[in-house]
Amino acid sequence: MNIISRLKGKVPALGIRTKVVGIVLGLTIVLMLCTVFYVHTILRDALAEQLDQKSISIARDVAARSVEPLLTGNIFNLHQLVYHTLENNKDVAYVFFTDDDGNVLIHTFKEYFPPDLLDVKHEISKKGYSLKKFQTEEGVLWEVAVPVFPSQEPGKVARVGVVDYSLQDALATATRRLLLIFAATFVIVSTIVFFITTFTTIRPLNSLLKSVQAVAGGDLSQKVKVSSKDELSALAEAFNIMTGRLAQAQLARDRLLKRLISSQEEERRRISRELHDETGQMLNTLMISLSLLQESSNLDELEQKTVEFRRLLLQSLEQVRLLVWRLTPAPLVDLGLKAALETFVSKYRESAGWEIDLQIEGLEKRRLSPEIEICIYRVTQEALTNIARHADAENVNILLDCRKEILLLTIEDDGVGFEPEEFKEENVQGTGASFGLISMRERISLVGGEFKIISSPGYGTTLDINIPLLP
Ligand SMILES: Nc1ncnc2c1ncn2[C@@H]1O[C@H](COP(=O)(O)OP(=O)(O)O)[C@@H](O)[C@H]1O
Ligand SMILES: [Mg+2]
Repeated sequence: MNIISRLKGKVPALGIRTKVVGIVLGLTIVLMLCTVFYVHTILRDALAEQLDQKSISIARDVAARSVEPLLTGNIFNLHQLVYHTLENNKDVAYVFFTDDDGNVLIHTFKEYFPPDLLDVKHEISKKGYSLKKFQTEEGVLWEVAVPVFPSQEPGKVARVGVVDYSLQDALATATRRLLLIFAATFVIVSTIVFFITTFTTIRPLNSLLKSVQAVAGGDLSQKVKVSSKDELSALAEAFNIMTGRLAQAQLARDRLLKRLISSQEEERRRISRELHDETGQMLNTLMISLSLLQESSNLDELEQKTVEFRRLLLQSLEQVRLLVWRLTPAPLVDLGLKAALETFVSKYRESAGWEIDLQIEGLEKRRLSPEIEICIYRVTQEALTNIARHADAENVNILLDCRKEILLLTIEDDGVGFEPEEFKEENVQGTGASFGLISMRERISLVGGEFKIISSPGYGTTLDINIPLLP
Protein backbone atom coordinates (compact mmCIF):
# COMPACT_ATOMS: atom_id res chain seq x y z
CA MET A 1 0.00 0.00 0.00
CA ASN A 2 2.78 2.30 1.04
CA ILE A 3 4.84 1.45 -2.04
CA ILE A 4 1.84 1.96 -4.31
CA SER A 5 1.06 5.37 -2.86
CA ARG A 6 4.75 6.31 -3.10
CA LEU A 7 4.83 5.17 -6.73
CA LYS A 8 1.66 7.13 -7.43
CA GLY A 9 3.44 10.26 -6.27
CA LYS A 10 6.55 9.61 -8.36
CA VAL A 11 5.27 8.11 -11.62
CA PRO A 12 3.61 11.28 -12.96
CA ALA A 13 6.92 13.12 -12.57
CA LEU A 14 8.75 10.68 -14.86
CA GLY A 15 9.43 11.50 -18.49
CA ILE A 16 7.40 9.83 -21.26
CA ARG A 17 10.43 7.88 -22.46
CA THR A 18 11.10 6.52 -18.97
CA LYS A 19 7.44 5.48 -18.70
CA VAL A 20 7.39 3.76 -22.11
CA VAL A 21 10.73 2.04 -21.55
CA GLY A 22 9.57 1.08 -18.04
CA ILE A 23 6.33 -0.45 -19.33
CA VAL A 24 8.07 -2.36 -22.14
CA LEU A 25 10.77 -3.64 -19.82
CA GLY A 26 8.26 -4.54 -17.13
CA LEU A 27 6.31 -6.59 -19.69
CA THR A 28 9.51 -8.14 -21.04
CA ILE A 29 10.56 -9.19 -17.53
CA VAL A 30 7.14 -10.71 -16.82
CA LEU A 31 7.25 -12.54 -20.16
CA MET A 32 10.76 -13.79 -19.52
CA LEU A 33 9.93 -15.02 -16.03
CA CYS A 34 6.88 -16.87 -17.35
CA THR A 35 8.97 -18.44 -20.08
CA VAL A 36 11.71 -19.46 -17.64
CA PHE A 37 9.10 -20.97 -15.33
CA TYR A 38 7.44 -22.84 -18.20
CA VAL A 39 10.70 -24.16 -19.65
CA HIS A 40 11.86 -25.09 -16.16
CA THR A 41 8.69 -27.12 -15.53
CA ILE A 42 8.83 -28.95 -18.88
CA LEU A 43 12.51 -29.68 -18.51
CA ARG A 44 12.07 -30.91 -14.95
CA ASP A 45 9.29 -33.30 -15.97
CA ALA A 46 11.31 -34.63 -18.93
CA LEU A 47 14.42 -35.11 -16.84
CA ALA A 48 12.42 -36.75 -14.05
CA GLU A 49 11.03 -39.23 -16.59
CA GLN A 50 14.56 -39.95 -17.72
CA LEU A 51 15.67 -40.43 -14.15
CA ASP A 52 12.80 -42.90 -13.61
CA GLN A 53 14.14 -45.04 -16.44
CA LYS A 54 17.71 -44.65 -15.37
CA SER A 55 17.09 -45.65 -11.74
CA ILE A 56 14.99 -48.67 -12.81
CA SER A 57 17.69 -49.86 -15.18
CA ILE A 58 20.45 -49.43 -12.56
CA ALA A 59 18.37 -51.37 -10.01
CA ARG A 60 17.66 -54.11 -12.55
CA ASP A 61 21.29 -54.29 -13.46
CA VAL A 62 22.33 -54.53 -9.80
CA ALA A 63 19.69 -57.26 -9.18
CA ALA A 64 20.77 -59.26 -12.24
CA ARG A 65 24.43 -59.11 -11.36
CA SER A 66 23.83 -60.04 -7.76
CA VAL A 67 22.18 -63.37 -8.62
CA GLU A 68 25.41 -65.28 -8.76
CA PRO A 69 27.11 -63.89 -5.60
CA LEU A 70 23.89 -64.45 -3.68
CA LEU A 71 23.56 -68.01 -4.93
CA THR A 72 27.13 -68.79 -4.03
CA GLY A 73 27.02 -66.73 -0.84
CA ASN A 74 30.01 -64.67 -2.08
CA ILE A 75 29.48 -61.58 0.02
CA PHE A 76 32.78 -60.10 -1.10
CA ASN A 77 31.66 -60.10 -4.72
CA LEU A 78 28.39 -58.61 -3.71
CA HIS A 79 30.21 -55.78 -1.94
CA GLN A 80 32.38 -55.20 -4.97
CA LEU A 81 29.31 -55.11 -7.15
CA VAL A 82 27.47 -52.47 -5.13
CA TYR A 83 30.54 -50.23 -4.67
CA HIS A 84 31.21 -50.50 -8.35
CA THR A 85 27.68 -49.36 -9.00
CA LEU A 86 28.12 -46.44 -6.60
CA GLU A 87 31.37 -45.35 -8.23
CA ASN A 88 30.05 -45.50 -11.77
CA ASN A 89 26.84 -43.61 -11.13
CA LYS A 90 27.25 -40.41 -9.26
CA ASP A 91 23.48 -40.08 -8.79
CA VAL A 92 23.24 -43.39 -6.92
CA ALA A 93 23.09 -42.55 -3.21
CA TYR A 94 22.97 -46.05 -1.81
CA VAL A 95 22.37 -49.74 -2.58
CA PHE A 96 21.26 -52.39 -0.16
CA PHE A 97 19.83 -55.90 -0.17
CA THR A 98 17.18 -57.37 2.06
CA ASP A 99 16.77 -61.08 2.75
CA ASP A 100 13.60 -63.18 2.81
CA ASP A 101 12.64 -61.74 6.22
CA GLY A 102 13.17 -58.20 5.15
CA ASN A 103 16.48 -57.79 7.10
CA VAL A 104 19.35 -55.89 5.56
CA LEU A 105 21.94 -58.18 4.02
CA ILE A 106 24.51 -55.62 2.97
CA HIS A 107 24.38 -51.84 2.43
CA THR A 108 26.58 -49.02 1.22
CA PHE A 109 25.93 -46.54 4.04
CA LYS A 110 29.21 -45.40 5.56
CA GLU A 111 28.22 -45.23 9.21
CA TYR A 112 24.91 -46.88 9.98
CA PHE A 113 21.86 -47.99 8.08
CA PRO A 114 18.97 -45.51 8.41
CA PRO A 115 16.17 -47.62 9.94
CA ASP A 116 13.46 -45.43 8.28
CA LEU A 117 14.33 -47.03 4.98
CA LEU A 118 12.99 -50.38 6.16
CA ASP A 119 9.64 -48.76 6.87
CA VAL A 120 9.23 -48.05 3.16
CA LYS A 121 7.12 -50.90 1.83
CA HIS A 122 7.47 -51.82 -1.83
CA GLU A 123 4.86 -53.63 -3.82
CA ILE A 124 6.56 -55.20 -6.79
CA SER A 125 4.53 -54.58 -9.93
CA LYS A 126 4.05 -56.93 -12.83
CA LYS A 127 6.89 -55.19 -14.59
CA GLY A 128 9.19 -56.61 -11.96
CA TYR A 129 10.08 -53.54 -9.92
CA SER A 130 8.67 -50.92 -7.56
CA LEU A 131 9.55 -47.22 -7.70
CA LYS A 132 8.97 -44.76 -4.90
CA LYS A 133 9.97 -41.14 -4.66
CA PHE A 134 10.40 -39.10 -1.53
CA GLN A 135 11.75 -35.74 -0.57
CA THR A 136 15.00 -35.71 1.41
CA GLU A 137 17.30 -32.94 2.55
CA GLU A 138 19.48 -33.41 -0.53
CA GLY A 139 16.67 -33.46 -3.05
CA VAL A 140 14.13 -35.93 -4.41
CA LEU A 141 15.10 -39.57 -3.85
CA TRP A 142 14.10 -42.28 -6.31
CA GLU A 143 14.09 -45.68 -4.67
CA VAL A 144 13.71 -48.72 -6.85
CA ALA A 145 13.24 -52.21 -5.48
CA VAL A 146 13.89 -55.21 -7.76
CA PRO A 147 13.60 -58.82 -6.52
CA VAL A 148 16.79 -60.76 -7.23
CA PHE A 149 14.87 -64.02 -7.73
CA PRO A 150 11.53 -62.97 -9.17
CA SER A 151 10.06 -66.43 -8.67
CA GLN A 152 10.57 -66.32 -4.87
CA GLU A 153 8.11 -64.49 -2.63
CA PRO A 154 9.11 -62.29 -0.85
CA GLY A 155 12.73 -63.36 -1.55
CA LYS A 156 15.85 -61.22 -1.64
CA VAL A 157 15.41 -57.70 -2.90
CA ALA A 158 17.94 -55.22 -4.28
CA ARG A 159 17.09 -51.61 -3.42
CA VAL A 160 18.81 -48.72 -5.12
CA GLY A 161 18.44 -45.06 -4.08
CA VAL A 162 19.03 -42.43 -6.72
CA VAL A 163 19.12 -38.67 -5.94
CA ASP A 164 18.34 -36.13 -8.65
CA TYR A 165 21.78 -34.44 -8.56
CA SER A 166 22.24 -34.52 -12.31
CA LEU A 167 18.67 -33.39 -12.81
CA GLN A 168 19.27 -30.44 -10.49
CA ASP A 169 22.52 -29.64 -12.29
CA ALA A 170 20.92 -29.82 -15.70
CA LEU A 171 18.02 -27.67 -14.56
CA ALA A 172 20.30 -25.09 -12.96
CA THR A 173 22.47 -24.87 -16.08
CA ALA A 174 19.49 -24.59 -18.39
CA THR A 175 17.89 -21.92 -16.22
CA ARG A 176 21.14 -20.01 -15.94
CA ARG A 177 21.56 -20.02 -19.72
CA LEU A 178 17.98 -19.00 -20.30
CA LEU A 179 18.34 -16.13 -17.85
CA LEU A 180 21.55 -15.06 -19.54
CA ILE A 181 19.88 -15.05 -22.96
CA PHE A 182 17.00 -13.10 -21.51
CA ALA A 183 19.28 -10.59 -19.84
CA ALA A 184 20.94 -9.99 -23.20
CA THR A 185 17.51 -9.69 -24.87
CA PHE A 186 16.49 -7.33 -22.10
CA VAL A 187 19.45 -5.02 -22.76
CA ILE A 188 18.90 -5.13 -26.52
CA VAL A 189 15.14 -4.52 -26.24
CA SER A 190 15.59 -1.63 -23.83
CA THR A 191 18.20 -0.02 -26.08
CA ILE A 192 15.97 -0.40 -29.13
CA VAL A 193 12.90 0.93 -27.28
CA PHE A 194 14.99 3.81 -25.94
CA PHE A 195 16.12 4.86 -29.41
CA ILE A 196 12.76 4.28 -31.06
CA THR A 197 10.94 6.41 -28.47
CA THR A 198 13.66 9.03 -28.74
CA PHE A 199 13.32 9.36 -32.49
CA THR A 200 9.60 8.86 -32.90
CA THR A 201 8.27 10.56 -29.79
CA ILE A 202 10.70 12.43 -27.62
CA ARG A 203 12.35 14.54 -30.31
CA PRO A 204 9.11 15.71 -31.95
CA LEU A 205 7.67 16.28 -28.49
CA ASN A 206 10.66 18.32 -27.40
CA SER A 207 10.53 20.48 -30.50
CA LEU A 208 6.80 20.96 -29.92
CA LEU A 209 7.49 21.86 -26.31
CA LYS A 210 10.14 24.40 -27.37
CA SER A 211 7.71 26.00 -29.79
CA VAL A 212 4.92 26.11 -27.18
CA GLN A 213 7.32 27.75 -24.76
CA ALA A 214 8.38 30.25 -27.42
CA VAL A 215 4.72 31.04 -28.12
CA ALA A 216 4.11 31.42 -24.38
CA GLY A 217 6.97 33.91 -24.44
CA GLY A 218 5.19 35.90 -27.16
CA ASP A 219 6.97 34.65 -30.31
CA LEU A 220 4.17 33.70 -32.69
CA SER A 221 6.45 33.06 -35.66
CA GLN A 222 7.21 29.54 -34.37
CA LYS A 223 6.45 26.62 -36.65
CA VAL A 224 6.87 22.96 -35.76
CA LYS A 225 8.25 20.58 -38.39
CA VAL A 226 5.74 17.89 -39.36
CA SER A 227 7.63 14.81 -40.49
CA SER A 228 5.36 11.81 -39.92
CA LYS A 229 1.63 11.06 -39.96
CA ASP A 230 0.89 10.08 -36.37
CA GLU A 231 -0.97 11.84 -33.56
CA LEU A 232 2.08 13.91 -32.73
CA SER A 233 2.26 15.35 -36.20
CA ALA A 234 -1.48 16.01 -36.07
CA LEU A 235 -0.80 17.90 -32.87
CA ALA A 236 2.06 19.77 -34.51
CA GLU A 237 -0.14 20.67 -37.47
CA ALA A 238 -2.91 21.89 -35.17
CA PHE A 239 -0.31 23.87 -33.27
CA ASN A 240 0.95 25.49 -36.47
CA ILE A 241 -2.59 26.41 -37.48
CA MET A 242 -3.22 27.82 -34.00
CA THR A 243 -0.08 29.99 -34.01
CA GLY A 244 -0.95 31.13 -37.52
CA ARG A 245 -4.39 32.22 -36.37
CA LEU A 246 -3.00 33.86 -33.26
CA ALA A 247 -0.48 35.77 -35.35
CA GLN A 248 -3.27 36.88 -37.69
CA ALA A 249 -5.43 37.98 -34.77
CA GLN A 250 -2.53 39.88 -33.28
CA LEU A 251 -1.86 41.56 -36.60
CA ALA A 252 -5.52 42.53 -36.92
CA ARG A 253 -5.54 43.88 -33.40
CA ASP A 254 -2.38 45.90 -34.02
CA ARG A 255 -3.91 47.32 -37.16
CA LEU A 256 -7.11 48.15 -35.32
CA LEU A 257 -5.20 49.84 -32.54
CA LYS A 258 -3.27 51.93 -35.05
CA ARG A 259 -6.49 52.94 -36.78
CA LEU A 260 -8.12 53.75 -33.46
CA ILE A 261 -5.19 55.92 -32.47
CA SER A 262 -5.03 57.66 -35.83
CA SER A 263 -8.77 58.25 -35.88
CA GLN A 264 -8.53 59.68 -32.38
CA GLU A 265 -5.73 61.96 -33.57
CA GLU A 266 -7.81 62.95 -36.54
CA GLU A 267 -10.76 63.77 -34.27
CA ARG A 268 -8.53 65.86 -32.02
CA ARG A 269 -7.14 67.76 -34.95
CA ARG A 270 -10.67 68.41 -36.19
CA ILE A 271 -11.80 69.62 -32.78
CA SER A 272 -8.80 71.92 -32.36
CA ARG A 273 -9.36 73.22 -35.87
CA GLU A 274 -12.99 73.91 -35.09
CA LEU A 275 -12.08 75.53 -31.78
CA HIS A 276 -9.51 77.70 -33.50
CA ASP A 277 -11.34 78.56 -36.71
CA GLU A 278 -14.86 79.01 -35.43
CA THR A 279 -15.12 79.42 -31.68
CA GLY A 280 -11.77 81.25 -31.47
CA GLN A 281 -12.65 83.53 -34.39
CA MET A 282 -16.01 84.29 -32.88
CA LEU A 283 -14.53 85.13 -29.49
CA ASN A 284 -11.96 87.31 -31.23
CA THR A 285 -14.68 89.22 -33.08
CA LEU A 286 -16.50 89.62 -29.79
CA MET A 287 -13.41 91.02 -28.11
CA ILE A 288 -12.78 93.55 -30.88
CA SER A 289 -16.43 94.56 -30.89
CA LEU A 290 -16.34 94.94 -27.12
CA SER A 291 -13.33 97.24 -27.27
CA LEU A 292 -15.14 99.30 -29.94
CA LEU A 293 -18.20 99.39 -27.71
CA GLN A 294 -16.15 100.85 -24.89
CA GLU A 295 -15.63 103.97 -27.01
CA SER A 296 -19.24 104.28 -28.15
CA SER A 297 -21.73 106.53 -26.33
CA ASN A 298 -24.75 105.98 -28.56
CA LEU A 299 -27.42 104.06 -26.62
CA ASP A 300 -29.19 102.71 -29.73
CA GLU A 301 -25.93 101.38 -31.10
CA LEU A 302 -25.15 99.87 -27.71
CA GLU A 303 -28.45 97.98 -27.66
CA GLN A 304 -27.98 96.78 -31.22
CA LYS A 305 -24.46 95.55 -30.45
CA THR A 306 -25.62 93.72 -27.30
CA VAL A 307 -28.16 91.77 -29.34
CA GLU A 308 -25.41 90.94 -31.84
CA PHE A 309 -23.07 89.82 -29.03
CA ARG A 310 -25.73 87.60 -27.56
CA ARG A 311 -26.24 85.91 -30.88
CA LEU A 312 -22.49 85.37 -31.31
CA LEU A 313 -22.16 84.05 -27.77
CA LEU A 314 -25.08 81.65 -28.25
CA GLN A 315 -23.51 80.40 -31.45
CA SER A 316 -20.20 79.77 -29.68
CA LEU A 317 -21.98 78.05 -26.83
CA GLU A 318 -23.77 75.74 -29.25
CA GLN A 319 -20.49 74.89 -30.98
CA VAL A 320 -18.79 74.11 -27.67
CA ARG A 321 -21.76 71.92 -26.66
CA LEU A 322 -21.56 70.02 -29.92
CA LEU A 323 -17.85 69.42 -29.45
CA VAL A 324 -18.34 68.25 -25.90
CA TRP A 325 -21.13 65.92 -27.04
CA ARG A 326 -18.91 64.44 -29.68
CA LEU A 327 -16.09 63.81 -27.22
CA THR A 328 -18.26 61.85 -24.82
CA PRO A 329 -22.00 61.92 -25.05
CA ALA A 330 -22.99 63.74 -21.86
CA PRO A 331 -26.18 61.72 -21.21
CA LEU A 332 -24.19 58.51 -21.26
CA VAL A 333 -22.03 59.76 -18.40
CA ASP A 334 -24.77 61.57 -16.49
CA LEU A 335 -27.95 59.60 -17.11
CA GLY A 336 -26.80 56.19 -18.31
CA LEU A 337 -27.17 54.05 -21.42
CA LYS A 338 -30.98 54.12 -21.67
CA ALA A 339 -31.29 57.89 -21.65
CA ALA A 340 -28.25 58.33 -23.92
CA LEU A 341 -29.61 55.90 -26.51
CA GLU A 342 -33.05 57.48 -26.38
CA THR A 343 -31.59 60.95 -26.91
CA PHE A 344 -29.33 59.75 -29.70
CA VAL A 345 -32.07 57.82 -31.49
CA SER A 346 -34.53 60.69 -31.22
CA LYS A 347 -31.94 62.98 -32.87
CA TYR A 348 -31.48 60.40 -35.60
CA ARG A 349 -35.21 60.04 -36.08
CA GLU A 350 -35.47 63.75 -36.86
CA SER A 351 -32.85 63.62 -39.61
CA ALA A 352 -33.32 60.10 -41.07
CA GLY A 353 -36.12 59.34 -43.47
CA TRP A 354 -37.03 56.06 -41.78
CA GLU A 355 -38.83 54.71 -38.72
CA ILE A 356 -36.75 53.71 -35.74
CA ASP A 357 -38.38 51.63 -33.05
CA LEU A 358 -36.29 51.57 -29.91
CA GLN A 359 -37.12 49.28 -27.00
CA ILE A 360 -34.99 49.09 -23.91
CA GLU A 361 -35.76 46.65 -21.16
CA GLY A 362 -34.22 46.02 -17.77
CA LEU A 363 -32.22 49.22 -17.63
CA GLU A 364 -34.64 51.46 -15.73
CA LYS A 365 -32.74 51.36 -12.50
CA ARG A 366 -29.59 49.68 -13.57
CA ARG A 367 -26.21 51.02 -14.62
CA LEU A 368 -23.72 48.81 -16.44
CA SER A 369 -19.97 49.08 -16.40
CA PRO A 370 -18.68 52.11 -18.39
CA GLU A 371 -16.91 49.83 -20.93
CA ILE A 372 -20.14 47.99 -21.75
CA GLU A 373 -22.21 51.20 -21.88
CA ILE A 374 -19.78 52.92 -24.26
CA CYS A 375 -19.48 49.71 -26.32
CA ILE A 376 -23.27 49.40 -26.80
CA TYR A 377 -23.55 53.10 -27.51
CA ARG A 378 -20.82 53.16 -30.16
CA VAL A 379 -22.00 49.93 -31.76
CA THR A 380 -25.54 51.34 -32.07
CA GLN A 381 -24.07 54.55 -33.51
CA GLU A 382 -22.06 52.60 -36.11
CA ALA A 383 -25.01 50.35 -36.96
CA LEU A 384 -27.29 53.34 -37.56
CA THR A 385 -24.58 55.06 -39.62
CA ASN A 386 -24.30 51.92 -41.76
CA ILE A 387 -28.07 51.73 -42.20
CA ALA A 388 -28.12 55.37 -43.22
CA ARG A 389 -25.23 54.93 -45.64
CA HIS A 390 -25.87 51.51 -47.16
CA ALA A 391 -29.20 49.93 -46.25
CA ASP A 392 -31.89 52.10 -47.88
CA ALA A 393 -34.25 50.82 -45.20
CA GLU A 394 -37.76 51.88 -44.22
CA ASN A 395 -37.97 50.39 -40.76
CA VAL A 396 -35.38 49.86 -38.12
CA ASN A 397 -35.94 48.00 -34.84
CA ILE A 398 -33.55 48.24 -31.96
CA LEU A 399 -34.11 46.01 -28.97
CA LEU A 400 -31.87 46.19 -25.94
CA ASP A 401 -32.74 43.60 -23.33
CA CYS A 402 -30.74 43.65 -20.14
CA ARG A 403 -31.18 40.42 -18.21
CA LYS A 404 -29.60 39.28 -15.01
CA GLU A 405 -26.46 37.82 -16.49
CA ILE A 406 -26.60 38.79 -20.14
CA LEU A 407 -27.22 41.83 -22.30
CA LEU A 408 -28.90 41.28 -25.66
CA LEU A 409 -28.87 43.86 -28.41
CA THR A 410 -30.64 43.32 -31.72
CA ILE A 411 -30.58 45.89 -34.50
CA GLU A 412 -32.76 44.98 -37.44
CA ASP A 413 -33.37 46.79 -40.74
CA ASP A 414 -35.45 45.93 -43.80
CA GLY A 415 -32.91 47.37 -46.22
CA VAL A 416 -30.96 45.92 -49.11
CA GLY A 417 -28.86 43.53 -47.03
CA PHE A 418 -25.39 42.31 -47.97
CA GLU A 419 -23.04 39.34 -47.91
CA PRO A 420 -21.38 39.43 -44.45
CA GLU A 421 -18.70 36.89 -45.50
CA GLU A 422 -17.21 39.47 -47.86
CA PHE A 423 -16.56 41.85 -45.01
CA LYS A 424 -14.92 39.44 -42.62
CA GLU A 425 -11.59 40.56 -41.32
CA GLU A 426 -9.53 38.06 -43.31
CA ASN A 427 -11.30 39.05 -46.53
CA VAL A 428 -10.82 42.80 -46.22
CA GLN A 429 -7.32 42.64 -44.85
CA GLY A 430 -5.02 45.11 -46.48
CA THR A 431 -7.78 46.61 -48.61
CA GLY A 432 -8.15 49.51 -46.20
CA ALA A 433 -11.92 49.34 -46.57
CA SER A 434 -14.82 48.54 -44.26
CA PHE A 435 -13.57 49.24 -40.83
CA GLY A 436 -16.95 49.70 -39.15
CA LEU A 437 -18.05 46.07 -38.89
CA ILE A 438 -14.57 44.96 -37.79
CA SER A 439 -14.38 47.61 -35.08
CA MET A 440 -17.88 46.62 -33.89
CA ARG A 441 -16.74 43.02 -33.62
CA GLU A 442 -13.56 44.06 -31.83
CA ARG A 443 -15.37 46.31 -29.37
CA ILE A 444 -17.78 43.49 -28.51
CA SER A 445 -15.10 40.87 -28.16
CA LEU A 446 -13.14 43.21 -25.88
CA VAL A 447 -16.01 43.10 -23.36
CA GLY A 448 -16.30 39.31 -23.79
CA GLY A 449 -19.40 39.36 -25.99
CA GLU A 450 -20.51 37.72 -29.23
CA PHE A 451 -21.41 39.44 -32.48
CA LYS A 452 -23.43 37.87 -35.28
CA ILE A 453 -24.48 39.41 -38.59
CA ILE A 454 -27.47 37.81 -40.24
CA SER A 455 -27.89 39.27 -43.69
CA SER A 456 -28.18 38.43 -47.35
CA PRO A 457 -28.78 40.67 -50.35
CA GLY A 458 -32.44 41.66 -50.57
CA TYR A 459 -33.42 40.43 -47.12
CA GLY A 460 -32.35 43.17 -44.74
CA THR A 461 -29.80 42.94 -42.00
CA THR A 462 -29.91 41.85 -38.36
CA LEU A 463 -27.10 42.38 -35.92
CA ASP A 464 -27.24 40.03 -32.97
CA ILE A 465 -25.10 40.96 -30.01
CA ASN A 466 -24.87 39.40 -26.60
CA ILE A 467 -22.57 40.37 -23.80
CA PRO A 468 -22.28 38.41 -20.56
CA LEU A 469 -22.76 40.54 -17.43
CA LEU A 470 -20.81 39.88 -14.27
CA PRO A 471 -23.03 39.64 -11.21
N1 LIG B 1 -27.20 47.51 -42.56
C1 LIG B 1 -26.57 47.28 -43.71
N2 LIG B 1 -27.26 47.11 -44.83
C2 LIG B 1 -26.63 46.85 -46.01
N3 LIG B 1 -25.29 46.76 -46.13
C3 LIG B 1 -24.53 46.95 -45.04
C4 LIG B 1 -25.13 47.22 -43.78
N4 LIG B 1 -24.12 47.31 -42.86
C5 LIG B 1 -22.97 47.11 -43.54
N5 LIG B 1 -23.21 46.90 -44.85
C6 LIG B 1 -22.22 46.56 -45.87
O1 LIG B 1 -21.03 46.18 -45.22
C7 LIG B 1 -19.95 46.98 -45.67
C8 LIG B 1 -18.97 47.17 -44.55
O2 LIG B 1 -19.46 48.04 -43.56
P1 LIG B 1 -18.45 48.80 -42.64
O3 LIG B 1 -17.46 47.82 -42.16
O4 LIG B 1 -19.20 49.56 -41.64
O5 LIG B 1 -17.65 49.77 -43.60
P2 LIG B 1 -18.16 51.11 -44.29
O6 LIG B 1 -19.42 51.49 -43.61
O7 LIG B 1 -17.04 52.04 -44.06
O8 LIG B 1 -18.35 50.75 -45.72
C9 LIG B 1 -20.58 48.22 -46.18
O9 LIG B 1 -19.78 48.81 -47.17
C10 LIG B 1 -21.89 47.75 -46.74
O10 LIG B 1 -21.72 47.25 -48.05
MG1 LIG C 1 -19.69 51.68 -41.58
